[in-house]
Amino acid sequence: MKVYLDNGATTKADEKVVAEMKKVLVSEYGNPSSLHSFGERAKELLEKSRKTVADEFGAGSDEIIFTSGGTESNNLAIKGLLSKTEKKHVITTKIEHPSVYNTCKSLKGYKVSYVGVDSEGFVKLDELEKLITKDTALVSVIHGNNEVGVIQDIEKIGKICKKHKVFFHVDAVQSFTKVPIDVKNVTTLSISSHKIHGPKGVGALYIKRGVRVGSLVYGGHQERDVRPGTENLPGIVGFAKAVEMKQPVEQIKKLREKLTEEILKIPNTKLNGPKERLCNNVNISFMGIEGESLLMMLNMKGIAVSTGSACSSQSLEPSHVLMALGMKHEQAHGSIRFTLSKFTTEQDIEYTVKELKKIVEKLRRISPVKNVR
Ligand SMILES: Cc1ncc(COP(=O)(O)O)c(C=O)c1O
Repeated sequence: MKVYLDNGATTKADEKVVAEMKKVLVSEYGNPSSLHSFGERAKELLEKSRKTVADEFGAGSDEIIFTSGGTESNNLAIKGLLSKTEKKHVITTKIEHPSVYNTCKSLKGYKVSYVGVDSEGFVKLDELEKLITKDTALVSVIHGNNEVGVIQDIEKIGKICKKHKVFFHVDAVQSFTKVPIDVKNVTTLSISSHKIHGPKGVGALYIKRGVRVGSLVYGGHQERDVRPGTENLPGIVGFAKAVEMKQPVEQIKKLREKLTEEILKIPNTKLNGPKERLCNNVNISFMGIEGESLLMMLNMKGIAVSTGSACSSQSLEPSHVLMALGMKHEQAHGSIRFTLSKFTTEQDIEYTVKELKKIVEKLRRISPVKNVR
C-alpha cells in the first residue's frame, strides 16, 4: 500500500487541472502578447485565470502578478519592495520558510531582526511592535507555518504595520485556500499552485494597488513590467482551476483529527504547535527516536512523511522552526510532519497508525535513550 502524507511538500495534481492544462498546451497555445487570434485567446485565458485567483481573497485582477512559485514571489516581494525605499531595516520571524529566511539573510546593507514566537509558534506581537523603528521598511511573516501549522493573525500584524507605516509581506503559500485571507492590511502576499493540487513551477504575488515593486529580472512588458517573460499559460490556467475547485477543509480536518488522536495514544509523543492549525497538518515528536529513522522505516512500508521543511531535510541541524518554539534538540530531532490532502482516505490513516505503532515500538527497543517506551 502507498500512502502519501507529505502534502505540505507538494500535492498530486487534480485530473481536472491536468485536463485544462492539456487543452492549453495543445489547442490554445498562443502567446498572450501576440496580436492575432491565437494570442487574443491566450490573453483571454490569462486574464480569466488572474480574476479567479484574485477573487479568492477579494483582490482586484490588477493586483495579481503570476510568478514561478512561492519562492520567486517571496524574493520578488522582499527585494522588490526594498528597492523602492531608502529604509534599511527588515523584520521577519524566527519560523519562516527558507525562501523568506534566506532572502532576508542575503540582503546586503540591511539590518534584519527576527521576532520570536511563543511555545505554540505564535508571533510575539508586543516584541514585533518594539522592534519597529523609523528605519523599518518591511515586516515579513509566514501566515500558515509549513512545519507546525500555526496560523498567524495577519489582521492584527497588519494593523501594527499600518500604524507604523511599514510594508507588510505575507507568505501564504501553505494557508491559501485553506484559511480565509483578508488582504486589507497586507502590502504583498505570496501563493503557490503545487500546494493545492495545481502544477509545480507557478505561483502569484498579490501587490496592493498603488504599491511599487521593483522587478528581479528584465525583459518584455509582461505582468506589468514587474515580472517579464512569456507567461506560463498552461501552468497559470491549471493554477486557476485548482483554486476554483476549493478545498474540502472539514473533510481533511476530520481525518487529521483522527490521525492526531491515534498517534498521541502512543506513549511519549507530543503534539508540536497549537491545536487549532492548518487543516492538513500535524507535527508530532516521538521521544527517544530519530525522526529520520522513523521516516525511513515508514517509507519502507510505503508511507511518505517528512521530518520538517522538505527544502532543509538534507541538513542534520534540527529544524529552526522547532527550535524557535523552545524545544530541546532531542524533541526536535524526533519530530515528524504528516500532511494530508483531499485525496487522503480513512484507510490511509488506519494503515499509517497501524504501521507507525509497530515501528515506534521497534525503534524504542533499540534506542540508546532508556526509559522511553
Ligand atoms: C511556507 C512556504 N513558503 C514558500 C514555499 C516555496 O514555494 P514554491 O515551492 O512554490 O517555491 C513553500 C514550499 O514549501 C512553503 O511551504
